[in-house]
Formats: sequence, C-alpha cells, structure tokens
Amino acid sequence: MPNKIRYWAIIPAAGSSERIGTLVPKQYLPLDNTTVIEAAISNFLQHPKITGVIVALHPDDQHWGHLANTRNEKIHSVIGGESRAESVQNAINYLENTPAEDQDFVLVHDAARPCLRYTDLELLIQQLEQDDVGGILASPVSDTLKVVDNQNGSMNTVNKTLDRENVWRALTPQMFRLVTLKKALMHCVKHNIKVTDEASAVEHLGLKIKLVKGHGDNIKITHTEDLELAAAILKKIN
Ligand code: CTP
Ligand code: MG
Repeated sequence: MPNKIRYWAIIPAAGSSERIGTLVPKQYLPLDNTTVIEAAISNFLQHPKITGVIVALHPDDQHWGHLANTRNEKIHSVIGGESRAESVQNAINYLENTPAEDQDFVLVHDAARPCLRYTDLELLIQQLEQDDVGGILASPVSDTLKVVDNQNGSMNTVNKTLDRENVWRALTPQMFRLVTLKKALMHCVKHNIKVTDEASAVEHLGLKIKLVKGHGDNIKITHTEDLELAAAILKKIN
C-alpha cells in the first residue's frame, strides 16, 4: 500500500514590493482587521487536508514574528531567495527533510494574494487530486489583450491582438506533485530559464497543466489601488 498522499502549502513571501513602493512590504500591510499575508494563509490553516504551511521570508524580514497568527503548529518558516522560484526552492528543500513524499502535492500561493476563497481551494484540490501532474487556479480574461512592440520610446505601439477566447489569467494556488515541481525548478536553473510562476516551470518540462476555473477576484496586491479593492472583495466573500 502506498503511503497516504499529503498536501503542503508553500507561501513565497520574500519579495521586495518594488512596484507598490510602500515602506512596509505589501504582504504585511493592514487589510480588514488583519494583514495581507494572514488573509492569504488562513484558508490553508483551516483546510483539514493541508499538513503544513511553509512560508519563505526575506532574510531581513522585520514583521513576520510580530503577527498574531504565525504561531500555529502547521506553520514553518524558511529564508527565501533572490527570485520567487528560489524562494519556492528553499521551501521545497525544507520539505525534503520532513516526511514529505515525491507523490505528495505542493500548493504554492502568493503571500500577496489575500482574496482566495475556501471554496476555490477546495475545488482545486478536488479536481486535481487524482492527476499525475497538477494544475492551477485560473480565470478567463475579459479585456481584449494587446501585445506591444519592443518599447523604444515613451509611447507603446500595438504589435498584435490576442484571441481573448484562448487567454486565461494564471492565479494561485498552483498545485503540483512534489517530484514534478522539484524537477521543473531544477530544469529551469540548469537551463537558465527565468519563470514568474510554477506552472511556467512545469510547462518547460513539456507537461500538460490543468486549468481549474477560479474566481477572478483572487487578485494579487501589486499597486496601492489593489488594497482598497482587496478590502472590498474580502467584505463580499467572508
Ligand atoms: N516572492 C518571493 N521571493 C522573491 C520574490 C517574490 O517569495 N524573491 C514572493 C512575493 O513576496 C509575493 C509573490 O512572490 O508574495 C509574488 O511576487 P510579486 O507580486 O512580484 O511580489 P514582489 O516581488 O514583492 O513585488 P515587486 O515585483 O513589485 O517587487
Ligand atoms: Mg516580483
């Protein structure tokens, strides 16, 4: 009998919040009686299938230890890396020293994405738990998207229009077998491929990734205006 499959959450939280430009890193900004990161983690702490939550922190992090909800037995912290992929890799290295098995699932979720619904997390797990590879929460785009020419002046020009029907936004969590994610990240390091999400790394292995349709309001805090929007979304969904 194979061992029971376990589920682990990885929360990359080691970014430097350059685009939002606040003094306090965006994952620690206050949001609706809590903070962005605590809201992002809460569903994983509640979910009975999640065995552990590994949070990757910036080496100079000043905030994590002061939060109310970090002393939970499910939570472990590691030091993140220079890129998101390195932060995720460091969390995987931690898992190597736990009872985690190759076929276990890893769910990577941005610390800056506080509006994940519990029902979307549940749907992702349910739809992918028999899958050999894994997949991601995603949402079809509603705007028409333009690809721009190489930027060489102050004004961008249109290179082409994408067929909206075939374009989805990649959200998180992104859920893969531990062995697959490990191989994918190693492949990208070896070939010097830069990726901004785990799915892109797995795509480079030539594997097919499932898209599970989630709510598009599972937004990532990137600019200041996203905070007000996130507060309104949280009020609506909680
Ligand atoms: N992240 C990380 N380690 C890094 C870079 C990013 O763990 N070296 C995390 C961020 O903390 C965030 C998630 O990856 O939770 C998504 O990244 P992004 O939105 O790009 O956050 P930042 O890199 O912090 O922001 P910016 O790109 O504006 O600097
Ligand atoms: Mg970034």
